[in-house]
Parts: sequence; C-alpha cells; structure tokens
Amino acid sequence: MGNSLRAAALLAFVVLSILVSLLISSVQQFGARVVSNVTRSEQQLPEALISQLIERRKEIVPLLFLNEDEDHFSDQSLDSTWDYRVWDKIARGSSRAPGAELGCDSLVDMQALEVLGSGYTKLVVKANLAGGLAVALKLVNEQGIDMGKCVEEFNEPEACRQLVAYKLKKEMVLLKRLQHPNVIGVRGAEGGRLAVILEQGTPLQMIQLLQSPWEDRFRVCLDLVHLLHFLSSSPLGSVALLDFQPRQFVMVSGTLKLTDLDDVSAEPTQCQTNADCTLFFPQRNFSIPCVRGLCEGLNQKRNMYNAYRYFFTYLLPHQAPPTLTHLVDHIMNSTGELKSDINETLQAFEELLAQYQSGAHLDNLPAFELSDYWLLQHVGASGGQYRCWLSYSAQGCVLSVHSPREAAHICNSHSQCSSFSLTGQRTWSGRLLAFFRSSSAQLIPNGTSDVYVKKNTVSDTPSL
Ligand SMILES: Nc1ncnc2c1ncn2[C@@H]1O[C@H](COP(=O)(O)OP(=O)(O)OP(=O)(O)O)[C@@H](O)[C@H]1O
Ligand SMILES: *[C@@H]1O[C@H](CO)[C@@H](O)[C@H](O)[C@H]1NC(C)=O
Ligand SMILES: *[C@@H]1O[C@H](CO)[C@@H](O)[C@H](O)[C@H]1NC(C)=O
Ligand SMILES: *[C@@H]1O[C@H](CO)[C@@H](O)[C@H](O)[C@H]1NC(C)=O
Ligand SMILES: *[C@@H]1O[C@H](CO)[C@@H](O)[C@H](O)[C@H]1NC(C)=O
Ligand SMILES: *[C@@H]1O[C@H](CO)[C@@H](O)[C@H](O)[C@H]1NC(C)=O
Repeated sequence: MGNSLRAAALLAFVVLSILVSLLISSVQQFGARVVSNVTRSEQQLPEALISQLIERRKEIVPLLFLNEDEDHFSDQSLDSTWDYRVWDKIARGSSRAPGAELGCDSLVDMQALEVLGSGYTKLVVKANLAGGLAVALKLVNEQGIDMGKCVEEFNEPEACRQLVAYKLKKEMVLLKRLQHPNVIGVRGAEGGRLAVILEQGTPLQMIQLLQSPWEDRFRVCLDLVHLLHFLSSSPLGSVALLDFQPRQFVMVSGTLKLTDLDDVSAEPTQCQTNADCTLFFPQRNFSIPCVRGLCEGLNQKRNMYNAYRYFFTYLLPHQAPPTLTHLVDHIMNSTGELKSDINETLQAFEELLAQYQSGAHLDNLPAFELSDYWLLQHVGASGGQYRCWLSYSAQGCVLSVHSPREAAHICNSHSQCSSFSLTGQRTWSGRLLAFFRSSSAQLIPNGTSDVYVKKNTVSDTPSL
C-alpha cells in the first residue's frame, strides 16, 4: 500500500485544501469574516454544489461536540485545517474506545480487494490486518448512484467525491457516538484514503434466515429489539433509522449489527396538532399524539413498526415452538399495532427468551418417551445421517433441544430416527445440540459424547 497510498493521501489533501478554501469563499459571500481569496477555477464550481457541501458539513458539526469535556470545534474556525482536524478527531476517537485505534499502517493485503457489499453511497471491501485479523473497509463508492448523480449534475468529480465523503464522515461520527453490541464496531480510520475500518461481518441474508432454525431467527429479532431500545434513549437522544431495511445490517458471529448509519435522525418532530404526527406506511398509517409541541415517541414508533414489517413478520411466527405461540402472537400484535413502547416490547422478548430457556414450555411432553431409549455414555456415532427441516447442519439432522427428553420426543416424531447423540455443544441461548441418526449409524467410543438408542430398533442391549 506504500506509494500509491501516499499518493492517494497527497491527492486527498490537495482536494481537501481546495474544498476548504471553497467553503471559505462561499462563507465570504454570506458576509462572514474574509479569510482568503479564491482562484478563478474554484470560483467556477457551481454555487448549488458549494451550498450542498456546506449543508453536509453543518450536519456533522453538532455531532462533534456533544460532551462538554471534549474540545470544541467551533463552527467559526474555518481554516484550511478544519477538515483534517475533524477527521483526525473522529479517527482517533475518544478515550472511551478500548485498545489502540488502527491506522492504515496496520493493514496488509489490500491488493486482494474482495467486495463485501456496496450501496448508493459506500463500498465495503475485505482487508486483513497485520496480525491476521480480518476487517471491513468502508469507502466512498465511486461507481455508486450518489457519485453518479452528482457528477452528472455538476461534472466536478473531485468536489462530488468530497460531497459523498461527508456521508461517510457523518457515519463515522455516529458509529462512535452510538457504540453498542448491536452496532458495528469501529476499529479505526484512515484519513488520506478516507476509509473507515470496521469489524467484518456478512451481509444479512433474509432468504437464508428464513430457512434457519427458529432459535436463530428469534435471536435476530431479539438483537434488533435490544438495538431499538438503545436507540430510543441513546447519547444523541431518540434516534430514528430513516432507511430501515435488512441491507443496513450485517451478522458478526451470529449477532445482528447495524452498519449503515448515514441516514438517521435524532430530531424530535415538532407539531401543532395530532394531525402533524402521522406515521405513514404503505399498509398502515398511525397517528401519534402531539404533546407540548412534539410528536411523542415518533422516532421510537417508526423504528418499531419497521422492525415489525421487515423482520418480525418474516422471522418470528414461522415454526415457533407450539407452546410459546401465545407469547409470540402477543408480541406480533402489540408491535404490529404499536400498542407497546420499546421498553414493554423488550420485556416481552425477554420473557419469551426466559420461557424458551427454562424449558417450562416442555413440561407437558410425555415423560415416558425417554424410557424408550438406552443411554450409552462416552459413546459417539458416525454415519446414519438424514436430513431434517431447519437443521443446523446441511449434511445431517442437527437440532437444538432443551433436554434429552425433548430430543427423545423429536426422535420419536421422525420415522428415520433410531438414535441421537448429545455432545455438550450448545447454541447461543444455551440449548443442547442434538445429532439425530438413522439405524445405519455406527457407534464408536467417544469420551465427550452420549448416545441414546431407541430400544425397539435393537433386539438386545447394543454392544460396541
Ligand atoms: N462491516 C461490514 N462487513 C461486511 N459487510 C458490510 C459491512 N458493512 C457494510 N457491509 C455491506 O456493504 C453494503 C453497503 O454498505 P452501506 O449500507 O453502509 O452502504 P450504503 O451506500 O449506505 O448502502 P445503501 O444504498 O443500502 O444505503 C451493506 O449493504 C452491507 O451488505
Ligand atoms: C483579494 O482580492 C482583492 C481584490 O479582489 C485584493 O484587493 C486583495 O488584496 C486580495 N487578498 C488577498 C489576501 O490576496
Ligand atoms: C395513509 O394516509 C394517506 C394520506 O392521508 C392516504 O392517502 C392513505 O390511503 C393512507 N393509507 C392507509 C393504509 O390508510
Ligand atoms: C391484533 O389483534 C386484533 C384483535 O384480535 C386484530 O383485529 C388485529 O388484526 C391484530 N393485529 C395484528 C397486526 O396482528
Ligand atoms: C425505558 O427504559 C429506559 C432505560 O432502560 C428508561 O430510561 C426510560 O425512561 C424507559 N421509558 C419508559 C417510557 O418507561
Ligand atoms: C467425539 O465427539 C466430538 C463431538 O461430536 C467430536 O468433535 C470428536 O471428533 C469425536 N472424537 C472422536 C475420536 O471421534
């Protein structure tokens, strides 16, 4: 990355300097203090573009000095180092971020640019750190629609790049301000190239999720509720995600994380009457009360209904454990009708999780079913794999169970099943992974596994 990166950094610096002087000149026009004159060619930048640049920058400024203890970036201090100081501050982050922040020096292997995803504004590529850690680099998408539109309108590629880059900068500030387990982690930033270094995830695949066990789909919904609970009273106030879609999220080791933060609003909506506070959705409109000049809980409710229509309806009811459906139905109804606030919704989800983990919903499974099986301790199995619906494994039938009793109940309901093994492996919620097998399975000694063999499939006590 050495020379080309340095060249890129130099180029970026030149561009930034030009743009900053442009900003200054445009501020001059608005009667601000005169700092310096601009050259002829810069004056030729369309005014509309200049004012968009100023608008974008204005959005970032208030996000920068929310805390009193942090050094202020005055809106007045318009000199050629403004952009650099801001970026530097964003990139270094505050002392809250644990560990050393990464710069581009720690990145190796930039040649193999594998694209992880791209959108209107940004491009995300894979990169490896010197220590072998895989990260994601978020950059301005030169081929994106944002860039394309700007260049088409103004034919000023450098200034357009800068305009689009402000979205990336804003996102970087927001990611720092809104650190949470369900928001993508920032590992660092690289000023010259204008890249944000993020923890690496995999884009959320709804189609794949629809074919996953209920437990995993429930986890995505639960993560989302944790995120919305945090956003409802975040350091920036109550934050609404304006562009709320599955593609704004990625999965990192099974955890859902928000990655696209450039389109959020932390502004309360002002109102005179309740009619000013209508939430419009294609299927439904909601009227929110106007209380003391503000629409009460509008941001929170907007997020909640989006969570309902993009996530819960697809992921939650389908294949829910039959004895938990009353809790699931309650959640579906109260979020779909916006009857509960986010705190109550979080409580309902936690109740559902607790019920699921406790296995209490299995109390009325017939107790005798486990007595249909021989227990062989310290024995494993191989072969005899068959497929089942919503399996954790593509090759065989692997499902999560609360107890051997639940596994016995499942095995009895599969015509092929004649044994199952438990290896102590657990899912995120703490349930046991059970491997179901047909009668062609071989039993082999294994200190970390127990096998339960159906009695009616063996004539005598099985021997190894
Ligand atoms: N940390 C990450 N790890 C892996 N993939 C990621 C990561 N961050 C983002 N992506 C992928 O890159 C895509 C583009 O990122 P992002 O949503 O920030 O760009 P965007 O231009 O704002 O997109 P959009 O047009 O959807 O708003 C995402 O949809 C996601 O699939
Ligand atoms: C700016 O331009 C004006 C005339 O347009 C000139 O009088 C002045 O000296 C210039 N200032 C600088 C700092 O170059
Ligand atoms: C929502 O309100 C708009 C504007 O009043 C109206 O046109 C639309 O039909 C309403 N949608 C639903 C689903 O009620
Ligand atoms: C909620 O329940 C009511 C009453 O049973 C029903 O009329 C309504 O359609 C349900 N709404 C949703 C979103 O499930
Ligand atoms: C929701 O919970 C948060 C913290 O968990 C609390 O600060 C807030 O006041 C609660 N909101 C309501 C409406 O109860
Ligand atoms: C014992 O079982 C565990 C868990 O299934 C498996 O990972 C391991 O490979 C098995 N060991 C042998 C020797 O087969």
